[in-house]
Amino acid sequence: MNVELIDLHPATADLEQVVREGLTAMPRQLPAWLLYDSEGSRLFASICEQPEYSLTRTEIALLNHQADAISAALGPGVMVEFGIGNAHKVSPLLKALKSDLFVGLDISRTALRDALEGLGREHPQTTMLGICCDHSQLADLPPHPLLDGRRRIGFFPGSSLGNFSWDNAVALLQRFRRLLNNGPLLLGLDQPRSPALLEAAYDDAAGVSAAFAQNLLTRLNRELQGDIDVDRFHYRARWQSSQSRIEMALVSDSPQTITLAGQLWQFEPDEAWITEHSVKYSPAAAEELAKQAGWRIQQRWHDDNDQVSLHLLLPAD
Ligand code: AVI
Repeated sequence: MNVELIDLHPATADLEQVVREGLTAMPRQLPAWLLYDSEGSRLFASICEQPEYSLTRTEIALLNHQADAISAALGPGVMVEFGIGNAHKVSPLLKALKSDLFVGLDISRTALRDALEGLGREHPQTTMLGICCDHSQLADLPPHPLLDGRRRIGFFPGSSLGNFSWDNAVALLQRFRRLLNNGPLLLGLDQPRSPALLEAAYDDAAGVSAAFAQNLLTRLNRELQGDIDVDRFHYRARWQSSQSRIEMALVSDSPQTITLAGQLWQFEPDEAWITEHSVKYSPAAAEELAKQAGWRIQQRWHDDNDQVSLHLLLPAD
């Protein structure tokens, strides 16, 4: 097995400052990436197995069914996945593309190594090149002899773009265009559907989505010497049709004061602290987003219920 790692030593965020900014914003919020400490990542994996949350299963099935058609449309090149997590989606594409090289980017060095080693066992003919970095801050891929002169194919599945605001999503897609040297991008997005189904997907009966959000408070208590009583905030997932998104929040049960890093913060009863948004893109909205970021959508594959889409994006000019 051939796994190589380039460590760009991504800067660790100043948690105290990030939280202070989120608490002074109106409404109060926190960036979604804060949800993923090791317990949060474990809970997210469990969300993906809940019956109400079908996105992951549907996208994996779609990739399996359409791998040959997708790889023919993508053409030859080196797959570059942004934020690979546990990397369990790219396998059918590597097989169909008969890739000799895969490049995975992730901010967590251990997660990156584990994921690439797992993939390497499945694809012994493919060299696994990991780049430990914050891809949202990266201007170019680091030079590497294996990448010299190779066409790049981007992969950003899982509707991860849905957790970004519109402006940040546009900026990220523009950055991908540069990082890929104008190669194509395969982008997975979840689509709008029945509000009841979406609200259930983000507030499952087993309470895993609620635990995922509440774990954020446990993390803040641990890392910022906080005194938050987690039981005095309840979890809420609401469909906001005008923004085509689910808003996830922790809502204060009563008036209360919390302390974080020595600073006091007051909450009104029913005041929401937004933990995450998950935007659902119709094909038309995806087209508009791509256009604003300098891409065009060449082709789209979707499941039988037209719920999850994989879009092939090409540079617009
Ligand atoms: C990672 N991301 C695409 C998930 C989503 O569906 O927006 C995060 C998530 N949060 C709660 N459930 C799932």
